[in-house]
Amino acid sequence: MWGGRFGGGPSALMREINASIGFDKRFWREDIAASKAHVAMLGAQGIVSAEDAATIAGGLDTVAAEYEANGVPEDIALEDIHMHVEARLAELIGPVAGRLHTARSRNDQVATDFRLWVRAAIDEVDSSLAAFQRVLVARAEEHEETVMPGFTHLQAAQPVTLGHHLLAYFEMLRRDRLRFRDARARLNENPLGSAALAGTSFPLDREATSAALGFDRPTANSLDAVSDRDFALDYLMAATSCALHLSRLAEELIIWASQPFGFVRLPDAFSTGSSIMPQKRNPDAAELVRGHAGRIAGAMTALVITMKGLPLAYSKDMQDDKPPVFEAHDLLMLSLQALAGMVETTDFRTDRMRAAAEAGFSTATDLADWLVRVAGVPFREAHHITGRAVKLAEDRGVGLAEIELHALQAIDPRIDESVYQVLTVDASVRSRTSYGGTSPERVREQIERAKGQI
Ligand code: ARG
Repeated sequence: MWGGRFGGGPSALMREINASIGFDKRFWREDIAASKAHVAMLGAQGIVSAEDAATIAGGLDTVAAEYEANGVPEDIALEDIHMHVEARLAELIGPVAGRLHTARSRNDQVATDFRLWVRAAIDEVDSSLAAFQRVLVARAEEHEETVMPGFTHLQAAQPVTLGHHLLAYFEMLRRDRLRFRDARARLNENPLGSAALAGTSFPLDREATSAALGFDRPTANSLDAVSDRDFALDYLMAATSCALHLSRLAEELIIWASQPFGFVRLPDAFSTGSSIMPQKRNPDAAELVRGHAGRIAGAMTALVITMKGLPLAYSKDMQDDKPPVFEAHDLLMLSLQALAGMVETTDFRTDRMRAAAEAGFSTATDLADWLVRVAGVPFREAHHITGRAVKLAEDRGVGLAEIELHALQAIDPRIDESVYQVLTVDASVRSRTSYGGTSPERVREQIERAKGQI
């Protein structure tokens, strides 16, 4: 491709280090689509004849059909997907294939192909996120009233409903979808026509190639267009944020599946056994989702570090932009689907959840609030009184609701019979009616809102 001024060919090692075909063949469809848009525009502008443009377009269709049928051959001497397509085109249609590369460089070509690929990847992730949200809403609907302990510091804090807890993840995924949508909107500008870095002297119609490839507009600055990988970083950052949410949910499922918790029984389809310990039922899929989040964050870091020191415009370092994005995307898609499958089919052990909520003095705040509301005690003092009641219950090994009235009154005489109405976990949950709170009626509203947002 640059034989004009070179005497000898590259060494075997040069070829090996230079080649990207092993991974960039993944966007052969985008490469051919961009070439077809380019050559149609060259024909329409009279930069190549209409006849040559038609021959090239037909040849590109043949290459696409071959790749579709047989896969992309890998020849490291041909370096990357762009050269593979062009070389095969030349074999099929002869020297006229050489006109395709008029007013174009692999620098704007790769930037265009990769943007198209990432755009499709975002759309794929978005559908999986929406599917996951549907699962969360469906499970939340089943458990609007299921009481479980809510935690802070992984210590029982206040009772919540399982529906409320599941919807917390709905919110995280909602923000992830917004991040991906935002990334997609910024990505959707067309680098094609920027050529190597400076633009070109040919009378291109960049609006035409933009429209043909579904871009909103051409990129505004050719130097930026060929050296920008923000779209890949935006994808990776959104993927990292999403993966971290998935990892937190995976972590909860792992904890909940442990024997001391026993809040869930993971489905057979997403558990593994042990070759030595017959009783085991390991949450491997959840652990791998948690593990993959680390690799996705690593992929993001890798590209940040690749890009951070590069002068304008293109440097070959940028060829390394693709493996982290491909890896992160594959891991994210797998994680999303596996975790959604787990949540969909997990057996929630509501009896265990309720027992844990009842065991942890999780209605202590309700007692303090009662003292404020009914007996007019300042909250700080109410906190102190409640602390003494908890200590008594703890010493006796009973729940707050099991302490007799006279014992509570010995702690504070302002306490009366009606306090027992707030000491059950159900009453506690029902009373949390503030907007966004855990009461079943508020959870139902959250579910309705969520349905409208999917
Ligand atoms: N395979 C290259 C990449 O992925 C294509 C761009 C090559 N451009 C160049 N000036 N060598 O980045």
